[in-house]
Amino acid sequence: MTVGRVETRQAVLDWLAGSHGVTGLGLHQVLPAVGSKELIGSLALHLGIGPGDLVVQPELAYPTYEVGAALAGAELVATDSLTALGPRVPRLLWLNSPSNPTGRVLPPAHLRKVVEWCRERGTILVSDECYLECAWEAEPVSVLHPDVCGGSTDGILAVHSLSKRSNLAGYRCAFVAGDARLVGELLAVRKNLGLMMPGPMQHAMAAALADTGHAVAQHAVYAARRARLREALERAGFRIDHSEASLYLWATRDEDCWDTVSWLAERGILVAPGAFYGAAGARHVRVAFTATDERVGAAVARLL
Ligand SMILES: Cc1ncc(COP(=O)(O)O)c(C=O)c1O
Repeated sequence: MTVGRVETRQAVLDWLAGSHGVTGLGLHQVLPAVGSKELIGSLALHLGIGPGDLVVQPELAYPTYEVGAALAGAELVATDSLTALGPRVPRLLWLNSPSNPTGRVLPPAHLRKVVEWCRERGTILVSDECYLECAWEAEPVSVLHPDVCGGSTDGILAVHSLSKRSNLAGYRCAFVAGDARLVGELLAVRKNLGLMMPGPMQHAMAAALADTGHAVAQHAVYAARRARLREALERAGFRIDHSEASLYLWATRDEDCWDTVSWLAERGILVAPGAFYGAAGARHVRVAFTATDERVGAAVARLL
């Protein structure tokens, strides 16, 4: 039994090769998931990580990595500095480039360094790449690209989602690809939990991956919203940091994030407080451009 039609997994391999230069993977190295959130939240547990184990996530991070560590009963450290870990060896390390919430993109040399660091220690490296195609001023690279992983998927998994690229969040279409042993382990656990993507969604995912036209059109929609919001925020006195990719602007007025949240809320604009993603975000807010064009236009008008 497999959790994923051959055609769906082949479409994933074709997309990885055609759009991201990731070659040499086999069908057994791909596993569809019911959206990437459930996969991320359950991955540590499903890989047998538990109490006494260490999971590492970025200093500023999407909260589900922490949820996954808590679910497994593992310890979590949030840091961007591998040296800060000292002699401790994590079982699992999360990367997220482009990043939610900052939009920061890690260059290939940085990714390569992390791959080497993890391999030397037997740490599983999982790279959440769901914003890989949402790039504006950078060229994000997959951890599975041969320039990064040296042509071997050993110890590495990459997580992808169609929620952002194809604006298909409601379809719950995602997948994980990489190390055959790790994918096999996930398959063995997940099929016994009934965590397979429904057939119609597998067809949809294969079709969406094979089509670049809608992704290009969606990219343009996001880019236009981003440009309008960025200009309005800067005119209103905000500074935008990072934000070279992802679906967010990482904005600050050099004040406590809750003051900024209130200031914007008074104008009917809802943003996420940076502190929600880690202490280092205490003076930023995350402004999403996932709202409709009409709602983004209303927010821009209120900022002027
Ligand atoms: C970094 C990151 N990973 C994963 C997800 C989950 O996306 P989905 O469950 O729709 O695939 C999100 C959603 O916002 C995200 O920001």
